[in-house]
Amino acid sequence: MEVANTVAKAETSHKLSKDEIICLLAAEGDRAEKLYQVADITRAKYMGDDVHLRGIIEFSNYCQRNCLYCGLRAGNQHLRRYRLKPDEILQIAKQGALLGYQTVVLQSGEDPWYDAATIARVVEKIKKELNIAITLSIGEKSREDYRLFREAGADRYLLKHETANKELFKVLRPGTELERRLECLSWLKELGFQVGSGNMVGLPGQTVDDLAEDLLLLKKLDVEMAGIGPFIPHPNTPLGGSKGGTVEMTLKCLAAARLLMPLTHLPATTALGSIDQQGRQKALRAGANVVMPNITPGDYRKYYEIYPGKICVGDKPQDCRFCIEGIILSLGRKVGTGPGHSPKFLS
Ligand code: 5AD
Ligand code: SF4
Ligand code: FES
Repeated sequence: MEVANTVAKAETSHKLSKDEIICLLAAEGDRAEKLYQVADITRAKYMGDDVHLRGIIEFSNYCQRNCLYCGLRAGNQHLRRYRLKPDEILQIAKQGALLGYQTVVLQSGEDPWYDAATIARVVEKIKKELNIAITLSIGEKSREDYRLFREAGADRYLLKHETANKELFKVLRPGTELERRLECLSWLKELGFQVGSGNMVGLPGQTVDDLAEDLLLLKKLDVEMAGIGPFIPHPNTPLGGSKGGTVEMTLKCLAAARLLMPLTHLPATTALGSIDQQGRQKALRAGANVVMPNITPGDYRKYYEIYPGKICVGDKPQDCRFCIEGIILSLGRKVGTGPGHSPKFLS
């Protein structure tokens, strides 16, 4: 199979077989560059030059789960834990809105300290006071909880499938199953959320075949957003000694995602920006159209250590806001205006 032919086919049909995706993911050198280029053209054609910003508030780093790859895992005793109170979350969202963010993402570990009613109240207040879009990223919950969040006004929900390989999923996320996560995603869809999912690239034991399955799954789920980032080993986890994902493989997955899902929001992930100083820029030129700058204040940032070397931990919300605008303009792109809802929801 020829990379160029496969890219051309994807550019017109937005459909590929698993073998064709594997062919794209094997591209090297000039062929990989070509893939990025066509993904960039596809992004411009379907999504335009606007880069949508989502301000992310990391409101609790407590987590009841023990994912082998994640620094927030309950078993990590070396992490100082924090929880922001509902009022603090609202204040931070206000600061975010003042900085011009029209979407806030409320993210945490799976922390049962916040019951569904508490989260719903925070969502309701942010909606009422700021009238901005709200994304929740707080893990697997019951259908009833999701319904409460939706009724309170949450617009979007981010729940990455992490890996489409169900055996690997089980090993890496003890006590949980891929099937359950997919069930959560289907509830979220039914409830009318704009749904985000996604996966990590370069997990130990993950093959190119698995990555092709990740992309096919995202396409099948017809997600409104797909976050694809490199796995970065964290020393205080069981996978501390593993190799991480590469910039190149992450970009190839991202570019293939753009060709397969022309209308899906694709973020230039913070993880990619953390393993390569130009990572987010490279992503924005290979299909990505969203950035999620951190608006968590003060010292909390450094304690939200999912992986080591995370960018922006010493920066303030306003630093990131201006930095990211500079990056976007330097690429000849524009900062998106409005809430940046999924184009699939507008039509
Ligand atoms: N490297 C990169 N990404 C990670 N995540 C968790 N641990 C790591 C890691 N070590 C990602 C997961 C999760 C999100 C909050 O962070 O994809 O969904
Ligand atoms: Fe918790 Fe999510 Fe980290 Fe797993 S990936 S330990 S669920 S924060
Ligand atoms: Fe945080 Fe650049 S986005 S400093």
